Amino acid sequence: MVEVTKAAPHEQERARRAMLLTALYIAQEQRGWLSPQAVARVAQRFGMTPGQVYATASFYTLFKLAPQGRYRIQVCDGLSCYLVGGAEPVVAQVSAALKLRSGETTPDGRFTLEVVECLASCGSAPALRVNDELYEHMTPEKIDELLERLRIS
Ligand code: FES
Repeated sequence: MVEVTKAAPHEQERARRAMLLTALYIAQEQRGWLSPQAVARVAQRFGMTPGQVYATASFYTLFKLAPQGRYRIQVCDGLSCYLVGGAEPVVAQVSAALKLRSGETTPDGRFTLEVVECLASCGSAPALRVNDELYEHMTPEKIDELLERLRIS
């Protein structure tokens, strides 16, 4: 079990929570999502119940509690993207091309679509992210090219 000592109780708890987030991140890296088995393993290591770990994991959008597609496409629906003509049109284009709504995965497990509030790339809006790679200044043509490339890769 993970223990934090030599610190005030509130500092120990803060450190333990930080380690919990790191452990969840590492666990998610194994399969791209946190399976019930992964949550149970982390809970055991931290002396917590799976429900406690699940409560933490479900708070952060970073953590996925269901299987994800090979390509997890995050499309920004934030204000900066909206102001340059992105957001809704980009979401609509990707959604129509993949026949997905936010949170859904294609039956073949290739794509997951997630609409997010901001990708921290407001200066190069409209933006979207595929797994860990950011795509900036997106246009309808660039989106078509990107999706085509991902379909055949
Ligand atoms: S609002 Fe789209 S990247 Fe920030």
